[in-house]
Amino acid sequence: MNDALLYKLNNGLSIPALGVGCWMGQVGESDQVRQMIVWALELGYRHIDTASNYGNEESVGKGLRDSGVDRAEVFITTKLASEDHGRVSAALDESLVKLGTSYVDLFLMHWPQALTKTGEALPPDASPTIAETWREMEILVETGKAKSIGVSNFSIKLLDKLLESARIIPAINQVEAHPCLPQHSLLEYCRHKGLLLTAYSPVAKNKLSGNDVLGEIAAKHNATVAQVLLSWGIGRSTIVIPKSANLERLKENLTLISLSPEEMRIINELHKEEGMHHSVCGFHSAALGGSCFGWTYEQLGWEMALGGVVPR
Ligand SMILES: NC(=O)c1ccc[n+]([C@@H]2O[C@H](COP(=O)([O-])OP(=O)(O)OC[C@H]3O[C@@H](n4cnc5c(N)ncnc54)[C@H](OP(=O)(O)O)[C@@H]3O)[C@@H](O)[C@H]2O)c1
Repeated sequence: MNDALLYKLNNGLSIPALGVGCWMGQVGESDQVRQMIVWALELGYRHIDTASNYGNEESVGKGLRDSGVDRAEVFITTKLASEDHGRVSAALDESLVKLGTSYVDLFLMHWPQALTKTGEALPPDASPTIAETWREMEILVETGKAKSIGVSNFSIKLLDKLLESARIIPAINQVEAHPCLPQHSLLEYCRHKGLLLTAYSPVAKNKLSGNDVLGEIAAKHNATVAQVLLSWGIGRSTIVIPKSANLERLKENLTLISLSPEEMRIINELHKEEGMHHSVCGFHSAALGGSCFGWTYEQLGWEMALGGVVPR
């Protein structure tokens, strides 16, 4: 690892506090992904976040090799697809082949829902349950193919359920987190239970660039709103994984600032403004009728309404 800020996981291993996200807005391998990884590693990023579902693990692996950076210096996360909850070990093997590596640093259960091959969600109590899938993931740590394991899109309700039977406490819970969806209670819960929280969509998909409050703070620091958002994320000890396929923005996202306690407080409370407390992710679209990948918000344990809005 280089001298970037590192956090300690609950198993003693380290994770760089900032990584590059690999969701490109569409599924598939591309030279754009390969190039993004080469640029990111050349700039000093040492943490890559991808997923089987992004369909770009081969391009990530190619970028890693083309960069000339030693595999051992890079923290690689990939994720178990919901369709693969019943074939955990085989799914990781496939990811490893695509990435061209013998292990991942972190393997996450991408979503709590198990989906059939044709994409229908099984109900929460049907096999493979979260507990059964987690047990299979625990075995991967014993084999060394996953140095750490964790979850993603888990609410307090589902973490409580998982922790009833888990032998390994997840190292990470990766969830959407930015000032419109700060996840304050979940972050507190994770701290209490020894998990780190990784913030996905940490620059809110650039949807907050016109926000006056953030703009004012950014101007004071001669920084951009994206830099303020990432600095806030790190300032509250979350891991941030912004995606940018643009060389200048990749550089920008690496340069963080120090926010004052008062600025942190203001950003912490931004979601309390009328109409501000909501998700920015398409899978919470109102068109999906109040469910997310087949489970209702009640089953997922999220206090969300139609369109990813959090009721007051
Ligand atoms: N676990 C999950 O279920 C889950 C869900 C969503 C995301 N993720 C992970 O989290 C990563 C990040 O989340 P995300 O991609 O949803 O959102 P994000 O990182 O908040 O935003 C990405 C968008 O913002 C733009 N952007 C990045 N840096 C910028 C800057 N400095 N100034 C202006 N615009 C900027 C990017 O465009 P350019 O590329 O053109 O710069 C892109 O359109 C993903 O790539 C993925 O690895 C995980």
